[in-house]
Amino acid sequence: MININLSGVVKFVKTSNLDTAEINSLHTKIKSHSMGGWMEMPFDIHEEQIDRINKTADRFRGQSEYIVVTGAGGSSLGARMLIDALGKPDSPVILYAGDNLSAIRISRLLQKISNHDFSVVVSSKSGTTLETLLAFRTLYSLLQKKYGDRAPEHIAVVTEDRRTALRNFALEAGAYIFTIPENVGGRYSVFTPAGLLPAACADVDITRLITGAVKQEKTGFAAAAQFASARNSLYNAGYKKEIFATFEPDAENFGAWWRQLFGESEGKEGGGLFPSTVTYTGDLHSMGQYIQEGPRDLYETILMFDDVKTDYPVAPSVFPDGLSALESRSFAEINRLAQRAVIEAHLAGGAPAAEITAPTFDEYGFGMTLQFFSQSCAASCFLRGVDPFYQPGVEAYKKRVKQSLGT
Ligand code: PA5
Repeated sequence: MININLSGVVKFVKTSNLDTAEINSLHTKIKSHSMGGWMEMPFDIHEEQIDRINKTADRFRGQSEYIVVTGAGGSSLGARMLIDALGKPDSPVILYAGDNLSAIRISRLLQKISNHDFSVVVSSKSGTTLETLLAFRTLYSLLQKKYGDRAPEHIAVVTEDRRTALRNFALEAGAYIFTIPENVGGRYSVFTPAGLLPAACADVDITRLITGAVKQEKTGFAAAAQFASARNSLYNAGYKKEIFATFEPDAENFGAWWRQLFGESEGKEGGGLFPSTVTYTGDLHSMGQYIQEGPRDLYETILMFDDVKTDYPVAPSVFPDGLSALESRSFAEINRLAQRAVIEAHLAGGAPAAEITAPTFDEYGFGMTLQFFSQSCAASCFLRGVDPFYQPGVEAYKKRVKQSLGT
């Protein structure tokens, strides 16, 4: 179970606990929305699909020194988060493209991969995102130069099940094709092939991931809804900034995924919490001052893990460094003690804290946590009266950029 501890919130604001009827009504609202398909996604993804994803990933792993995951926003951030946190070290090196227009970035990427075997997973639900399509063109010409007629064996296209130009290309070329269901939006698509295929390329156990999400969907919605309600109480009481914090640097990109999820779902109609992220303890040395003593309009949502499964003993001292009290301790233990002390310091400084604890730092724990935050994000939006599943602002700038480029 995901455990939520709101004692560091109720010190500052009065939160209203939702009753069972309110929780059930929220659940139904999300599920019955035309874009609510992600909620059932962990149940809907069948063994044959998982098998096909794993087989394609195995093929790519066998034939590639590099795998270039090409996509933007929701078609990239979930995959990246899973790979960074849970990818196995003996996998091909995973590189990223398709979420920027930087000449420096694409040139460096090409320099890196040109003389090596590589494959490309290109994800775009709409099949129209400028950055993704431009990067893919470039990678495709290199694949053609390298592998000629066999280039499509190195390409997997993840897109919507309607005849977009990208899907047509994949069909004609004979590339691998995977589908993002129409009723699942980009930032909610981590349990579709957009998240699962790249993750499997890094040897992430996607079956365990889905098992965790199923467990959360079956048993955890009420906790996610109560967290959503507490977030809204904070917002209404003037806490307009939410800072996602983790003490696990390998989960740093969990923050990037979380920021997009909440930012794009909630930032609408002139309102919405401003989401930002920090990774501790590193960012205590950059943002710690602001959080401790800056404007009192922020609170922290802290993601912790009960069992990180990995520990490391503190080495014997090499010189009198003043840390002899830590001699018999371990890194995991010290990190846990530091978490508590930091939360207490920030509470004393006037920054509320919501603690979210996942059972394990592994596929199962991540599956649960991703579903938990998706549920709480959608629930928060419905409580505030905005639709979580549209992003007219994103569409507006995409259109303007394309117009300005004459495309
Ligand atoms: O969450 C969203 O809908 C967006 O962030 C999209 O994922 C992003 O703009 C990329 O779109 P697409 O997958 O159509 O290329």
